[in-house]
Amino acid sequence: MTTRFRFYSEVLLRVLPEEDYALRLEALAEALPLAVAATDASGRVLVWNPALAAWMGPREAAVGRPLLEALPALAADPNLDWGLALHACLREGARCDLPRHPLGERVVRATLGPMRGPSGQVLGAVLALQDITRSAREEERRRLQARSEAVAALGAGIAHEIRNPINALSLNLQLLRERIEDLPREAIAAKADAMIAELQRMESLVAHLLEVSRGGPPDLAPERVDDIVAAVVERLDGTARRQGAQVVFRPGSVRQLPVDRARIDRAVHNVVRNALEAVGPAGRVEVETRDDPHSTVIVVDDNGPGIAPADRKRVFELFFTRKRGGTGLGLPLARRAVESHGGEIEVLERPGGGARFVIHLPLAGTDTGPARA
Ligand SMILES: Nc1ncnc2c1ncn2[C@@H]1O[C@H](COP(=O)(O)OP(=O)(O)O)[C@@H](O)[C@H]1O
Ligand SMILES: [Mg+2]
Repeated sequence: MTTRFRFYSEVLLRVLPEEDYALRLEALAEALPLAVAATDASGRVLVWNPALAAWMGPREAAVGRPLLEALPALAADPNLDWGLALHACLREGARCDLPRHPLGERVVRATLGPMRGPSGQVLGAVLALQDITRSAREEERRRLQARSEAVAALGAGIAHEIRNPINALSLNLQLLRERIEDLPREAIAAKADAMIAELQRMESLVAHLLEVSRGGPPDLAPERVDDIVAAVVERLDGTARRQGAQVVFRPGSVRQLPVDRARIDRAVHNVVRNALEAVGPAGRVEVETRDDPHSTVIVVDDNGPGIAPADRKRVFELFFTRKRGGTGLGLPLARRAVESHGGEIEVLERPGGGARFVIHLPLAGTDTGPARA
């Protein structure tokens, strides 16, 4: 260690007026788990720490040579002209930070930056390399796995959603086929209505799925938010009753807003439906609207178990679901719908337990539509 130090300090003393600074760097580089090389102002290697030696070859062969000569892997890098980068670093003090950079067979985190003296002048360049091949591969593997799980979940969700209406349709059709002679006209009409309703469910599921891949600008027309919410609540009332729960709507918005009715309807529908699914039997969902100075606000409260703080950030992620047979599409789509109006949707804790979803629809904010109703 002492001879090594003497060797470096000699070199450094010869080249660098601010040898203290460089020596400190040398001592630091010794201790670092990173592979570190430092050069003088002409780009020749001064410091070559043990981690770099273990990776790229012995220090003795490198010290004193131009950096790129000592590191042929950099010279041969097709993704970056390291000669230029080094030049810019030495001339102008330019930094180069590469958080994930392919280098030969490996992936590295690389930093090239100037080493400056106390008066700010560039004394040389410091290169730090960290081999992140392992974690990069691991990350890629996890990403692929998450994706295939997401696709599987989506597939399961779609299958689940489509099988029910198909079963209902085929039962009704069988019944009709066997008894069409003796069924009264009204009963046939009722069966047909039930089948149309099932087909509409499938239609809406497909629309849902299409929306995942679409987006685009909203189709705006002046609407009263209260009318939209009232329609959603009415539509879900039957579902609520069947499970023994209650949905209450307290309308409080009177103004008209330029909105895409179908999208806001679906967003509110998804949020209220989640609330109903969360409360279980005998639960209570309360929906409220109000006109704030700059936005119309829709609040959906439920007295279910609420959402764990760690999950609150994630519920708007595509495919995030905690339900068996859940698709994890409801809230991401709701968010997209609201944001396409320049609005916001957030999830909060309801005072007294349960979840609270708040949707803000601004008076003006959409890029495409009329500014004000
Ligand atoms: N009101 C709520 N109470 C508790 N958890 C909720 C509520 N709304 C949403 N969540 C959670 O957010 C997740 C994502 O919801 P969503 O995107 O609609 O997908 P899905 O309903 O198919 O699971 C749900 O699985 C659930 O864990
Ligand atoms: Mg949902």
